Amino acid sequence: MSEHLLSVKDLHTSFTTDNGEVRAVNGVSFNLDAGKVLGIVGESGSGKSVTAYSIMQILAENGRITGGSVEYKGEDITKWNKKQMAAFRGKCCSIIFQDPMTSLNPVFSIGNQLEEAIRMHTDKNHKQARERAVELLTLVGVNEPTKRIKQYPFELSGGMRQRVMIAMALACEPDILIADEPTTALDVTIQAQILELMQDLQKKLGMAIIMVTHDLGVIATMCDEIIVMYGGRVCERGTADAIFYEPAHEYTKGLLRSIPNINNSKERLVPIAGNPINLLNMPSGCAFCARCDKAMKVCLDSIPEERWVGKDHLASCWLNDLALKEKAEKMLSAGAPKEEVQRETGWTKDAGGEWVYTCGTAQE
Ligand SMILES: Nc1ncnc2c1ncn2[C@@H]1O[C@H](COP(=O)(O)OP(=O)(O)O)[C@@H](O)[C@H]1O
Ligand code: SF4
Ligand SMILES: [Mg+2]
Repeated sequence: MSEHLLSVKDLHTSFTTDNGEVRAVNGVSFNLDAGKVLGIVGESGSGKSVTAYSIMQILAENGRITGGSVEYKGEDITKWNKKQMAAFRGKCCSIIFQDPMTSLNPVFSIGNQLEEAIRMHTDKNHKQARERAVELLTLVGVNEPTKRIKQYPFELSGGMRQRVMIAMALACEPDILIADEPTTALDVTIQAQILELMQDLQKKLGMAIIMVTHDLGVIATMCDEIIVMYGGRVCERGTADAIFYEPAHEYTKGLLRSIPNINNSKERLVPIAGNPINLLNMPSGCAFCARCDKAMKVCLDSIPEERWVGKDHLASCWLNDLALKEKAEKMLSAGAPKEEVQRETGWTKDAGGEWVYTCGTAQE
């Protein structure tokens, strides 16, 4: 199997709190290849940011990776020391946050901050760094960059500040850009402009992007793959088309009903009923169980495994298991060869007549 640019494998991240261990990420796996755009989607509190911060190792003091690995070009960076990680952040992977005001220092000019970001990872001198800063501001569509460079964050609009943040993140031409809700704080028009800018930059510079958002509608057109998260787990993954037109997890279906899209533009939008799960006390079965209309007994007791439900499309919901087994049973009764049944459904029966799933997951 070819090596991925980034490979997150069975990642677990927890926070120690006075109330106990908050298990924010519970076995997340995904791959990202060079130049691809991955969307991570889910309601607030589903573990999207913690996944991103775990990759960058910028977790709060009470947080730590408790299991799994994060491989960058085949090397497990969770084993790297502080110096290696400092070089990783910026040179290999950069992150932009929802609110640029919290990331930009109010007492330094834009130019100062950009130059610092450039000089931290390159051997450029002051003059060269300033030239690069102007170049970067031009790249991200900041008008009059030589004038802007002398301004302070408070003198810029929200959209402009986010452009500056993107410029800072691109200072060292990282292979991966993580954008954590980059447009959530912006109004709709500016939001569209920033997304367009990111798409443009991705094409121009060829970097890979991880777009983290609670808003499935926002990223639909720009992602090669989308993963849907709930309770710190991936419940579904696939192309944007698969997720939008053939959702195979009850949570994804709920998310789609709660946002405007071309399929439901005339229907009432329905928020998902119930509250997100308590990560201090994870259920032993499907994380979405307490909020799912279709929950069965098995959902309470056992965590559903990931199953292929279409081309490049996987979901972790017991309903898919039932449907696939039912299909397999019908095919076998109709006399279809075992191999064909296995290819079509992933299921086969062993010598003792027990069902065995044979397809594995996308991440193996
Ligand atoms: N420093 C922390 N201490 C305790 N719990 C935390 C901490 N940071 C995040 N969490 C918890 O982890 C869960 C996932 O958070 P997060 O990844 O930020 O969600 P989102 O999907 O909205 O980005 C939340 O329940 C959040 O409260
Ligand atoms: S596994 Fe069960 S509870 Fe979870 S989404 Fe599927 S049907 Fe609902
Ligand atoms: Mg978040």
